[in-house]
Amino acid sequence: MQTLNEIRSTFLNYFGDNGHAVVPSSPLVPRNDPTLMFTAAGMVQFKNLFTGVETRNYSRATTAQKCVRAGGKHNDLDNVGYTARHHTFFEMLGNFSFGDYFKEDAIPLAWDLLTKVFGIDASRLLVTVYHTDDEAVEIWKKHAGLSDDRIIRIATDDNFWSAGPTGPCGPCTEIFYDHGEHIWGGPPGSPDEDGDRFVEIWNLVFMQYEQFEDGTRRDLPNKSIDTGMGIERVAALLQGTNDNYATDLMRSLIEASAHATNSDPDGAGKTHHRVIADHLRSTSFLMADGVMPSNDGRGYVLRRIMRRAMRHAHLLGAKDPLMHRLVPALVGQMGQAYPELGQAQSMIEQTLLQEETRFRQTLDRGLKLLDDALVALPEGADLPGDAAFKLYDTFGFPLDLTQDALREKGRAVDTDGFDVAMAEQKAKARAAWSGSGEAADAAIWFDVADKSGVTEFLGYDTETAEGKITALVQDGKAVEVVQMGQQVQIALNQTPFYAESGGQIGDTGTIRTDTGVARITDTRKAAGVFIHFAEVEKGSISNEQSSVLEVDIARRSAIRANHSATHLLHEALRHALGDHVAQRGSLNAADRLRFDFSHNEAVSADQIVAIEREVNSYIRQNTSVETRIMTPDDARALGAQALFGEKYGDEVRVVSMGVQDGSGKGSDGNTYSLELCGGTHVRQTGDIGAFVLLGDSASSAGVRRIEALTGADAINYLRKQDQTLALAAQELKAPAADVPARISALMDERRSLANEVAQLRRELAMSGGASAPGAQTVNGVAFHAQVLQGVTGKDLPALVDEHKSRIGSGAVLLIADTGGKAAVAAGVTDDLKGTLSAVDILRAAVAELGGKGGGGRPDMAQGGGASADNAQAAIEAAKIVLKG
Ligand code: SER
Repeated sequence: MQTLNEIRSTFLNYFGDNGHAVVPSSPLVPRNDPTLMFTAAGMVQFKNLFTGVETRNYSRATTAQKCVRAGGKHNDLDNVGYTARHHTFFEMLGNFSFGDYFKEDAIPLAWDLLTKVFGIDASRLLVTVYHTDDEAVEIWKKHAGLSDDRIIRIATDDNFWSAGPTGPCGPCTEIFYDHGEHIWGGPPGSPDEDGDRFVEIWNLVFMQYEQFEDGTRRDLPNKSIDTGMGIERVAALLQGTNDNYATDLMRSLIEASAHATNSDPDGAGKTHHRVIADHLRSTSFLMADGVMPSNDGRGYVLRRIMRRAMRHAHLLGAKDPLMHRLVPALVGQMGQAYPELGQAQSMIEQTLLQEETRFRQTLDRGLKLLDDALVALPEGADLPGDAAFKLYDTFGFPLDLTQDALREKGRAVDTDGFDVAMAEQKAKARAAWSGSGEAADAAIWFDVADKSGVTEFLGYDTETAEGKITALVQDGKAVEVVQMGQQVQIALNQTPFYAESGGQIGDTGTIRTDTGVARITDTRKAAGVFIHFAEVEKGSISNEQSSVLEVDIARRSAIRANHSATHLLHEALRHALGDHVAQRGSLNAADRLRFDFSHNEAVSADQIVAIEREVNSYIRQNTSVETRIMTPDDARALGAQALFGEKYGDEVRVVSMGVQDGSGKGSDGNTYSLELCGGTHVRQTGDIGAFVLLGDSASSAGVRRIEALTGADAINYLRKQDQTLALAAQELKAPAADVPARISALMDERRSLANEVAQLRRELAMSGGASAPGAQTVNGVAFHAQVLQGVTGKDLPALVDEHKSRIGSGAVLLIADTGGKAAVAAGVTDDLKGTLSAVDILRAAVAELGGKGGGGRPDMAQGGGASADNAQAAIEAAKIVLKG
C-alpha cells in the first residue's frame, strides 16, 4: 500500500523529473488576493504568473498545496464528519505551466502518472470536457485511447473553472474514477451523478482567459495549465477505499482521538472522531500559518472550527481538554512535508489547551440552555434567533456550532433572528461609544466599521499582501476617488501595515491599484479600522479597488528588532535591578528604542554592562519567538508582564522569547520573557542582531529612561565609536589601547604646565621690584602702583603681599587688565594700617575704573572695574587718598 506521504512524494518527483520546479505550498492566508479568506486551490499562489503580472525563474511548477475550505466562498465546514469526502483542510496536488506547455502535454502527463506510475486501472477512468473543447476530446482519444462514451461533454460551469468572479480562468477536463456497480451513483452529467460511484479525482484547467469585474474577458498573454488533485481522494482510491477518512493518514489521527478518549474509532463516536481528525488538521495548520483565534475575520473562523471539534470531544465524553494531545500525532504524520507545523508545535498545543480549557468553562451550561430551549419549543420548530445569540454571546457558541448541535436533533436555527440580535448588540456598543467623548473625527471610522467590517491585520506574518479598499476619507468625509498630489486616509478589509499602538510606531510603505500609486506615511487605527495616511503619487485611487500593499520592509524589520529587544531588556532590567521594575512607557521606532521603567536611582555603569550582556546572550541563543492567545487572567497566572492599570479585552496575545536553562525548548516555567503584547516581533531572537545600551537618564520622579539600539544601528554606532577612538589614537600617536593612559598623562602634564604658567606670570608681575616704575613715595609713604597684563584677579592678593614685603612699609595698588575688565587689589603694610586703609585706596581706584564698591580689610582689599583703560586716573585717585 502506498501511504499518503509516499503518494505526495511520487507526485512531486514525477513532475520534478518532467522539468517542473517543486515549489513549497504557500501559506493558508493568501497574500495576493483580498477576496479570498483562505487558500483553497493550488493555483492561488500563481495567480499573477498566469496573468503575466509577475514572472519567476521557472515556467512549470508542481506543488502540494495546503488548502482550507471553511468560511468565505468555499465552505465545507457543515458537512465535515458526516460525509466520506468533505474536509475543512486538504492538500491539493498540482502541476502548472505558465505559458510553457498546454493541453496536448497536460493530458498525457496526467494520464501517464495515473495509469503507469500509480498503476490505476485505465478501464475504470473516464473524463469530462467542456462541451466545445474538441481539441481536448481528440487528445484524450489519441493519447489515452478513450472511447467516445468515456469522454463526456459538459456544458455547465462544472467544466469551466475560475477561482472567483475575476482573474484567470478557462475550460477544464476532469478525470473520474468508477468505483464499480456495487456503489450507487451515475456518471457526471447524469441525474445520479451525486452518488459515490463516480468520483472526480483530478481537474485539469486550460487557463486561457482573464475575467474582469465589468464582465469582460481577455485572452491571457500565454496559454497555461493549472491542475488540482485532492490527495485524500487519490489516496483513498490507491488504498482501495472510497472513504477519505479510511486512508492511512486520516485513520492514524482518528485512532489517536479514539485512544485519547478510550473509545472505539468505528463505534457510536465515529462522526466525532472524523470531525476531530479533520479539525485538528485545519486548526493546527492555520495556527502554523499565523492565524490566531479571535472574535472576527479569519481568527473567528479558526475559533469556530476549534470549538466545533471541542464540542465533539465533549460528546465523546472526554473529561479533559483533548485537542492539544493529538497534535504530536499530526506532526508525526505531516511534519516532514510541512516543517512549519513542527516549528509551531508547542505554540499550537498551548493555544489549543488554553482555548479548550476556556471553552469547557461554558460548554456544559450552554448545552443545558440549548436543551432547555428545545424542550420548550414545539416539535420540529427552529431555535429562535435570540436563543442562538445568547449562546453565542454568553457561552461562546459560534452559530455554526449551535447549528451542528441541532442537526443531530433534526432542527435548525432562525438565522434571521440571530442577525437581528447581533445588529442590536452592535448598535448598543456604538451608542455607548459615542457618549464616551472620544475625538469626533473617529465617528467616520465607526461608520466604516459598521458598513465594511474591521480591518484584519496580516502583518504578523507578511509585509506584502493585497487588500480591498473599503473607504477613502478626506477632511473627515468619505470620498470615492482621490487624484495625484492629494492626501487621503485609506481603510482596507485587510492589511499588512501595523497601526501605531503599544509603543510601536505605525508602518510606512506603498499602496498600488490598477489606476494609481500612493505613499503611505503612517498607519493608525480607530474603531478596529486601520487608517493608512497616504499621498497619491501617481494616477488616482478609487474606493472599492483591490490594491497591493507593501510595507517598507527594512524599516519594519528594524522596528521589529527594537520591539523584541525591548522585551528582552525589560526582563534583563528586572534581573539586574529587581522585580519592582515595571514598564512605564516605551517607543519602538525604526532607529532606536526607548524604555521607561519604575526605578529610584541611576543605573550604575556595572549594571548597564550586565544588562546589555544579558540581552545579547538571549539574542545569540536564537530561539524562536512564540505568540499565543489567552485570557488576561491566564496570561498573568503564567507570569506574563502586563502594563499596570492597563485595560485588556477578553483575550490578549502573549509573546514569549528566550529559554532560561538553555535547553532549547521553552515551556512557561523556563521561558525568559513572557509579555502581553500586540506588536510585531522577530521570528528568532537572533534576528535582533545586536543590542547596545546608550545609557540611562531620569525621565520623571521614580522613573528612569533607557535608550538603546539594535541590529545595523547598534553595529554602526559601535563602528562610529571605534572610529572616534581611532582618530583620538592617531592624534595621540599611540595605540588605541593606550589612549586612556595617554589622556590621563596629558591631563597631568597640562595641570603642571598650568601651574608653571601661573608661577611665571606671577614672577613676571613682580619683575622690577621696588625700583620699578610703579614705585614712588607719596606723602612720605612708599607707594607701589602697577598695571599688570596676563594675571587674573585670583593672582592679585598674593602679588600684593609680595610687594608689601618688598617695600617693608607702604601701600600697594595692582590693577590687572583681564581683557576688557579690570581686577583691582590694594594693600597697606601692618605698620600703617592704623592710619591708612587699603579699602579706601581700593574704592578710590575702582571708582575711576567704572566699578562699584569692593571691599576687604585695612591691610588688603579687592574689587573690580569695567575696564583698565583709566588705570592712570585710578592710580592718581589712590594717591589723593595717600595724601590724606
Ligand atoms: N484550480 C483548479 C481546482 O481547484 C485546478 O487546480 O480545481
